[in-house]
Amino acid sequence: MSQLFKVPDRVKTGSQSPIQTPEQYREHYMRASFNPSDYWLEVTRRKVRWMTEPTLGLVGSYHNIAEEPIAWFSDGTLNLTETCLDQHLEKNGDKTAILWEGDEPDEIRSLTYSQLYKEVCKAASALRELGLQKGERVIIYMGMVPEAAIAMLACARLGAIHSVVFGGFSAEALRDRVRDCGAKYVITQDEGRRGGKAVPLKAVVDQALEDERLVKNVVVFKRTGTPINFNKDRDIWWHDMVEGGAESLDPVECAAEDPLFILYTSGSTGKPKGLVHTTGGYLTYTSYTHEVVFDLRDDDVYCCAADVGWITGHSYIVYGPLANGATTMMFESTPLYPDAGRYWDMVSRHKVTIFYTAPTALRALAAQDEDFVKKYDRSTLRVLGTVGEPINPDAWNWYYQVVGEGRCNIVDTWWQTETGGICISPIAPVTETAPGSATLPLPGIVPLLLDNDGHIIRGPGEGKLCLAHSWPGQARTVWEDHERYVATYFSTYPGYYFTGDGCRRDGNGYNWITGRVDDVLNVSGHRMGTAEFESALVNVDEIAEAAVVGFPHPIKGQGVYVYAVLQPGYEASEEVEKNMRMACREAIGAHAGLDQIHFVPGLPKTRSGKVMRRILRKIVEGDGDKLGDISTLANPEVVDVIRQDFKALA
Ligand code: WTA
Repeated sequence: MSQLFKVPDRVKTGSQSPIQTPEQYREHYMRASFNPSDYWLEVTRRKVRWMTEPTLGLVGSYHNIAEEPIAWFSDGTLNLTETCLDQHLEKNGDKTAILWEGDEPDEIRSLTYSQLYKEVCKAASALRELGLQKGERVIIYMGMVPEAAIAMLACARLGAIHSVVFGGFSAEALRDRVRDCGAKYVITQDEGRRGGKAVPLKAVVDQALEDERLVKNVVVFKRTGTPINFNKDRDIWWHDMVEGGAESLDPVECAAEDPLFILYTSGSTGKPKGLVHTTGGYLTYTSYTHEVVFDLRDDDVYCCAADVGWITGHSYIVYGPLANGATTMMFESTPLYPDAGRYWDMVSRHKVTIFYTAPTALRALAAQDEDFVKKYDRSTLRVLGTVGEPINPDAWNWYYQVVGEGRCNIVDTWWQTETGGICISPIAPVTETAPGSATLPLPGIVPLLLDNDGHIIRGPGEGKLCLAHSWPGQARTVWEDHERYVATYFSTYPGYYFTGDGCRRDGNGYNWITGRVDDVLNVSGHRMGTAEFESALVNVDEIAEAAVVGFPHPIKGQGVYVYAVLQPGYEASEEVEKNMRMACREAIGAHAGLDQIHFVPGLPKTRSGKVMRRILRKIVEGDGDKLGDISTLANPEVVDVIRQDFKALA
């Protein structure tokens, strides 16, 4: 059993959370497990401003999810922005809601709750003028500017469904998403700024919409003022649009189960899926987990350094924190710009108390001189969070000792786009931690480990992580494809939600996520499907076949390793490699880099023609000598060639 780190005193003292002690955690956990409906009804009444209070908790079950999607609080009605904005105006109107730091450290903006309320109402009333109706879809393709959050909230004010697309995605990926959700409106900006560089957002939108007639308007926020192509029939400046918008606007009444947003995420097969999160349950769960896990206090300055293009940005920059009336930071830049001290410089200038980032950033920073950390005052920090991938104990220890100087508790939060909010994590004032473990499930979450035959593993062991019961934050379906939702998450182990992750449970009952057990890569916390890379690669003229696997990478967590078979008559060259890299950038985006390209004479296949990824994965993990019996393959001889080449490359 590993050594546990006690909760530092200053993290325990002064807690305002409903769960402050291990006894309270156990009590809440039991209540949520035995009577989820009552538990969550009680939570939602406390945390959410309803128009019609719900009397129903959970309706539906995983056993008949194909026929009937899960529903929470389904007889309630609300508008989510009343919880995030209106309810704070009286007591906290002058409190900072969003504190923004731009790419350059001296670019700062802050919006109080009253200002944010006005901006959201102005944007919502202007969007309504353009014709935006309840239930219609809006794509938001922006960088990290407050207007991205304002746009999300403005959609929610009108009951419109937003789909934020991360600003690194390519025109092709953006076009796929616009089409899949049938968006009539796109909100973007002239360009983004990141790490001293420009990100050409509007130009990508133009390219994505070249043959797209369904999009009525593109709204462009002016971030840098760079000249852009402007299509007068379609494009509108954000500042022109909101000028004269109403500073107060009645919220549209929504059903609890009306969709709030669609967020596309990668799986093992096919194109990314548009996961649908609905209103009442998602809001309840994100505000609850944000309060409980981080032990949110009235005077906290909370900083999550994620991007709103991912679920972390939705749940823990925008919705959870604003529902809780917190001061939430938005950060436009990168941890390394202008140098490796940026995070800690920001912490000291804004007196940040809770800081939440990804292990990949910590590994990159831990590789630099400690002075980058030490020269800044970090004494305000109390809770340090990580998310997105397993954190290796070295990075954990660095975060704990060097950044937090042993005064902060670390919350290693495990969750997914599908789960909407944090599921397995320490609770800051309560849980003793172990470096690399996400520790214990939150109330309402019932994790199970299953072996390959679908048997439940009891006590310590390792298996596939499933969750046994629904919780309010869970994604309800895949946009217009409920069958795919059921097939992806509920068919592997009928009756359970299958996460796609492997997990080990130790003698303390602590969970150690071991990573994906499917064909999903996690590169620097970015989730990508091997199938997406492969379909881009086989479109390259010179490439006949390709198989992509992840390999352990010291900074990125996982790197992208490509096995490629050339078309007859072609030879490996820098030119071919360049074409391959371009193809992935164009199909997916700038974050879809290839770390290693390995040309091979063939891919190992079963006699029925299935590529044996397990073998390819083992080789790059350095276990090429431990493949076991490969004689049943259709082409065992290529394995020897690949193994030899790999050794030569390494
Ligand atoms: C991984 C991000 C280990 C996991 C919120 C999951 C983690 C995938 C952790 C979801 C963690 C996330 N420890 N692995 N604390 N948090 N993951 O949808 O493999 O972008 O399935 O959501 O990230 O990635 P997604």
